[in-house]
Amino acid sequence: MKLDNIKELLGGEKLLQEVSVKGWIRTFRSNRFIALNDGSTINNIQCVVDFENISEKILKQLNTGAAVSINGTLVESQGKGQNVEIQVKDIAILGESNPEEYPIQPKKHSLEFLREKAHLRVRTSTFSAIMRVRSSLSFAVHQYFNQNGFNYVHTPIITGSDAEGAGEMFRVSTLDIKNPPLTDNKEIDFKEDFFGKETNLTVSGQLEAETYAMGLGKVYTFGPTFRAENSNTSRHLAEFWMIEPEVAFLDLDGNMDLAEDFIKYVIKYALDNCKDDLEFLEQRLLQEEKTKPQAERSEMTLTEKLHFVIDNNFKRVSYTEAIEILKNSKPNKKKKFNYIIEEWGADLQSEHERYLVEKHFKTPVILFDYPADIKAFYMRANEDGKTVRAMDILFPGIGEIVGGAQREERYDVLKEKVEAMGIDEKELWWYLELRKFGTATHSGFGLGFERLVLFATGMTNIRDVIPFPRTPQNAEF
Ligand code: 4AD
Ligand code: MG
Repeated sequence: MKLDNIKELLGGEKLLQEVSVKGWIRTFRSNRFIALNDGSTINNIQCVVDFENISEKILKQLNTGAAVSINGTLVESQGKGQNVEIQVKDIAILGESNPEEYPIQPKKHSLEFLREKAHLRVRTSTFSAIMRVRSSLSFAVHQYFNQNGFNYVHTPIITGSDAEGAGEMFRVSTLDIKNPPLTDNKEIDFKEDFFGKETNLTVSGQLEAETYAMGLGKVYTFGPTFRAENSNTSRHLAEFWMIEPEVAFLDLDGNMDLAEDFIKYVIKYALDNCKDDLEFLEQRLLQEEKTKPQAERSEMTLTEKLHFVIDNNFKRVSYTEAIEILKNSKPNKKKKFNYIIEEWGADLQSEHERYLVEKHFKTPVILFDYPADIKAFYMRANEDGKTVRAMDILFPGIGEIVGGAQREERYDVLKEKVEAMGIDEKELWWYLELRKFGTATHSGFGLGFERLVLFATGMTNIRDVIPFPRTPQNAEF
């Protein structure tokens, strides 16, 4: 018999027909009601067993976490909480789950506890909802670019260049770790480790994407990205996924238009296609908010937050204007914020970013024209000699969600910049050469996918929106 999918059955398809489902038991109560989930939806289907027709042995194995196969009839439910249920005809245990040992019990576990159980946490409602939303958002990303004439380019993971020039890279090594070379206390020569070359895991696919934009016109990458920064925040991972479009003949204004349109599209996609999961996550958040003191509670529900992004124009403000706003803002001692920035040229901290978004403008903000000294080498210099055509998009609750720029397209200016920053030209000869042959204005940005998923799900720790978080403490599994 063909397997049915619980989402479709709950939609009322196949009423009064014979159905067949496989899934994992969430709960079994009164020796009669199984709540079964197969991952297709946040909702469980109720399967009603007649214990007189079931062997004692099987009855004992109907435990939370067990995998089962059920055949029966889909009928209207007499009970509250569901429209339909399955009247079980036969049931087989596919995989047992010892209740003494299975860690995911039908009660509320803390997110911290579940992080330790990364291999099982997707069996909870919260994590299955998050991961379905993540999957939908990822599909929406590809759909947006596909509909808008972009080509998907697979940029390399192993690379010889440091795209951000920040030195936060993981070195790739061909060392045989099972048989390490005898070093006699001598330092291993890490300089020549990738078959004789010095290479790293990519921090961004941007530089390679630029080369493809200068031939295919509109491209994007969407892949894993690595940062060896030792930051233990709720916004940073050592391994995260980044979406990076790059477009030829596009200036900074066009880049802002693209980023805003793109973000609105994917959030709207989630609202339209993940209704049940978002509804569940919203309720979860409301429960959590209730445990906080009144003053700290969020003023908006999750759905309102998502609409806030779709319905508002992102406010576009230059770095210089933002500094003026921050200088004139009052520090809020009570909340231990310190909004004061003394100097033009300082990098904004996330508390400054969040002040601008949450307190001052009350819309998502695009900050542009940053001081050259605090931004990467590849950004297009402005005529003022001080600023570059950079843009960061700031979101409520998140801070920076996008970093991008118009790129320096002038060979001489870029070469000088690379030299001034002490970057080895040998590393970037190909990147410089792009500016020799058919150079043109071009722009792009990077959006941290996990920060987008954080925002869309209302979660607060980035470790909870990626299946297996890689942080300085956690690289198990
Ligand atoms: O601002 P970043 O460093 O910009 C770049 O890498 C550019 N090369 C992108 C481009 O123009 N193509 O990173 C871009 C975004 C950030 O705004 C943030 O959302 C995310 O990537 N990000 C991280 N996300 C999780 N963990 C980290 N450690 C992150 N570092 C950056
Ligand atoms: Mg940045």
